[in-house]
Order: sequence, then structure tokens, then C-alpha cells
Amino acid sequence: MAPMMRSYSYTEDQFYKADGADVETAALRKKGMNDLAQRFKDLFKESHKAAETVLDGLSDMRFTDTNRVPFPCQKIVREKLNVFNMVTEARGAEVKDLDGNWAIDVSGSYGVNVAGYDVFKNCLAQGWEKVKDLGCVLGPLHPIIEENVEFLKHVSGQDEVSFHMSGTEAVMCAVRLACFNTRRSKIAVFSGAYHGWWDGVQPGAGNERIVRDCVTLKDLSPASLTAIAAMGKQLGAVLVNPLQCFHPNSSPPSDVVLMDSKLRNTADPGDTYRLWLHKLRKVCTENDVPLVFDEVYTGFRLARGGAQEYFGVKADMVVYGKTIGGGMPNGLVCGPKHLMRRFDPDHPLRVSYVIGTFAAHPLLLGSMNEFIKFLKLESTPKLYESVSSRFSDWVKDTNSRLIDHSMPLRIVNLSTIWTILYTQPGRYNWMLQYYLRAEGVMLSWVGTGRCLISLDFTDQNFADLQERIIIAAQKMQADGWWWKGDPKKPITSKVVSSLMAKEMAYATLVAPMFGSKKSE
Ligand SMILES: Cc1ncc(COP(=O)(O)O)c(C=O)c1O
Repeated sequence: MAPMMRSYSYTEDQFYKADGADVETAALRKKGMNDLAQRFKDLFKESHKAAETVLDGLSDMRFTDTNRVPFPCQKIVREKLNVFNMVTEARGAEVKDLDGNWAIDVSGSYGVNVAGYDVFKNCLAQGWEKVKDLGCVLGPLHPIIEENVEFLKHVSGQDEVSFHMSGTEAVMCAVRLACFNTRRSKIAVFSGAYHGWWDGVQPGAGNERIVRDCVTLKDLSPASLTAIAAMGKQLGAVLVNPLQCFHPNSSPPSDVVLMDSKLRNTADPGDTYRLWLHKLRKVCTENDVPLVFDEVYTGFRLARGGAQEYFGVKADMVVYGKTIGGGMPNGLVCGPKHLMRRFDPDHPLRVSYVIGTFAAHPLLLGSMNEFIKFLKLESTPKLYESVSSRFSDWVKDTNSRLIDHSMPLRIVNLSTIWTILYTQPGRYNWMLQYYLRAEGVMLSWVGTGRCLISLDFTDQNFADLQERIIIAAQKMQADGWWWKGDPKKPITSKVVSSLMAKEMAYATLVAPMFGSKKSE
């Protein structure tokens, strides 16, 4: 379906009435949008200037910038609301943009910011102090690596560690080594799970290469256990991203999917997934299939010992990245000797070539060493627990205020990871990210789908964040984006889905026959 579906964009008039809103509501939205656009212009003058020159030549930013909102709305939103962020300073849980505005950061730097930006600044500065006499000598290793490896072996419960430059690369290494050492050619992943952008773990639309050796299984399904048992002798690895406990069988939540409020939900991250992982562990053990945890996101976040500790399950190999670098790019694979070998002792010409120029760069080793020092503090495990519990209380309190104010949103969290769910079906729920930005909340490009708090959040940060969410939601409601529909024909998920299906069918099947799109 995805490769065939044609693109289309709303005209301004269609944009305000995409849910069939009446004339008054559409006018209210138009005014709200124009006011918000003016606020963005006033707040982000310098950022907008920078965007004009940088965006055109920077494909990475163009990709993320385009994918903030559902595709038919992109054209109008990009004209009106530019959220291109250029930032110059971080202090506590806040970051300052090019225009001098401070915002509470809940983007968490894609998951890196577990401890708080000041901790990472310290890791980078002190880390550099430790290795600066060596500078950027690559190949020979700085002796500080020994301490890092000892800790990583201990925390992962594995024999060996391998260093890489990103999480994506570390996943590539884990898959390659598991297959090499088991002499098996297939791997299994779970539906919707993100393991980096390598096409070997991303079969599906957008990947033009035919990936024949990656089997996608359903999470929480007994049929998947049966399939693993049946394919056992072909599977070099079963790859799990434990973050999927929050939204099994769905892609990472982003606002781009919010065309319809049905599309985002969370699962209870409690015992169901824990039991599932234990079953998965058992079937992998019985069939001698390596169970690989991709803890690039969950490592050192769900708990100091990551998902292995949080769910009480021991994996055969663990992949880490993001936060463990103490602010520097990294990827790590930890595993047992028999899976980490790159030579075949019986066949000397059979070599698994995994290597990288910048792996174990001295600055990474230094900043990682400092971050490990933070993890080893006697107070750190308690800090994880207390912030997680304070945050859960904050979530409860914020939700009860949202209910008191009759706001159609709720916050759900898994430890320090959180998301916003919408209770009112509609086609504009993604607009909240812009109202939040105007109130001084910095989100990543996936918007309200994946937010994070860091361990340094103060009571004031929590209070400010709550207030800003309430104010943003109130403004969005006042501007008519959560129109409930005609009392005789209220907006339901079914109504929204049917509107969407009609538009898509028209753009894909009818418009091309006339040599035009419905709207441009
Ligand atoms: C579970 C998981 N695996 C792998 C990756 C890829 O890591 P990187 O972006 O460092 O390549 C990510 C990144 O978000 C991730 O969340």
C-alpha cells in the first residue's frame, strides 16, 4: 500500500476543514493559526533566518523537518510554523535557542540525556582532561579503556565488549557476529521495533533492497514462539528492542501518524511484557538461538542495568549506545566469547570483518569513563528510583489537572520515557507540538509521541512543564482544533478514518486519471 499511495496537500481552505468542520470553527482555526504563526515569527526570528539558508542544503534536517506532521498538512504548516531549532546553550533541564529563548527540554537528545546536560558537560570536560595528552591517536588504545570494559562486562553480565560509532553500527555488528558464530543466515525482529536505519533490520516500504533474511514476528504472540522453535536452526539471532513494551507491534510513536486518534496508544508496561520476555528467553534457550537485546535506548535509562535489570531477563548479547558515551557518539556490543569471535578457529580464512576507524576514540573513552563514574556512585541507583517515582506522581497529578480542565489528552510514562495520548478523535492532535513550543517546551521531531525527562529535573522544572502543557492545551482548545463535530454527527475515529480513506483513494486512484492531484 505505502509505495503506491500518492501524495497530496491541502489548500488552506481544505486544511481548516479536513474534519468537515463548520465555517465558524474553520475561521477560529485560521485565526488561531495566524496568531500562532505571528508568535513564532516574534519568538524565533534568528532561527527562521538560519533555517532559510541551512535547511535547503541540509538533507538530514529537511527529512526531520518534513516529518513532523501528517503529509497532507505539511505544505501549510511549513509556510506558517517554522520550528527549526538552532540552540546555543544548555543549563539544567533547559536549552537556549538562537533567539535567546530558554525552553524546557523534553526531547532528551534522542534518549542520550538520561543524567542531565550538566552531567554530560562535565563528562566531556573531565573526559577530555583524562585523555588530552594523547589527543586523537587511533589504533593504539588509551589505558582508560580497561576500566570502561570492566564496568561494561559487569553491568551487561557478558564476557567481552566491542566498540562502535553508533547504535546502528553496533546492531550491525551484533547481527553479523551472531550469524557468523552460529553459522546461520536469518534473524528475527519484532513488528514495529526500531533498531537503527540499517536496511538489514528495516524490511518494508522505503527500503528498495530485498531483505530476505530478516523475519518479522508479532510481539506478545504465542505463534511467534512456535515460529522461533520451528526456525531455530536457521536463526542466528532474535533481536528485541525492549522499548516495545510501551507500544508492542507499533512503529515508534511520532506525531506524523496522528491523522486519526486511533493510531496512537500504549500498552501497560507491567507484567505482560515481562512474562513475554521470559517466554522468549525460554524458547531461545531451548532452541539454541541467541537472544539479543538492543538496549541502545533502554540501556542505563529504564534502570542502571537497563532492560535486563528492569525485566529480570538475561540476554545472550546486549547492544548499547546513546547515553553510555557520556555525550560522545558510540555503540557497544557486549556478549559471550563464543558469539563475539571474529575468527573461526578451525577455518582460518573464515573471518567476520567488523572494524571501524573511530571506534574507541580517546575522547569517547574519557567521557564514557566519567559517565561510568556517575553510574557507579552509591547514590545513582536511588536517583533512578526516586526520579522515576516522582515523575510517575507528576504524571498522575498532571492527568488529574487535565481532566479537571476537560482537556482531551493524557500522559503515560514508562520510567522517564513518556508520551501524550489523545482522547478526542480528530485530525489536528499533532498541532499540540506547536502550541507547546510556543510555551517554551522543546520537543524532538517526533513531537508529542516520545518525550523524556532527565534525572536532574527539579521540582520547579516539573511545575513549569505541567503549567506549560495545560496552557498549551487550553490555547489549542480555544482555537477550535478539538471540534467535536455536529451534535447529530459527532467526530468519531470511524468518521475520521473514513474521511482519510476517501481522500487517499481519490489522490491515488482518481486524480492521476485526470493528470492532476486533488490539491497542490
Ligand atoms: C533501539 C535502538 N537501536 C538502535 C538505534 C540506532 O542508534 P543510532 O541512532 O546511534 O545509530 C536506536 C536509535 O534511536 C535505537 O533506539
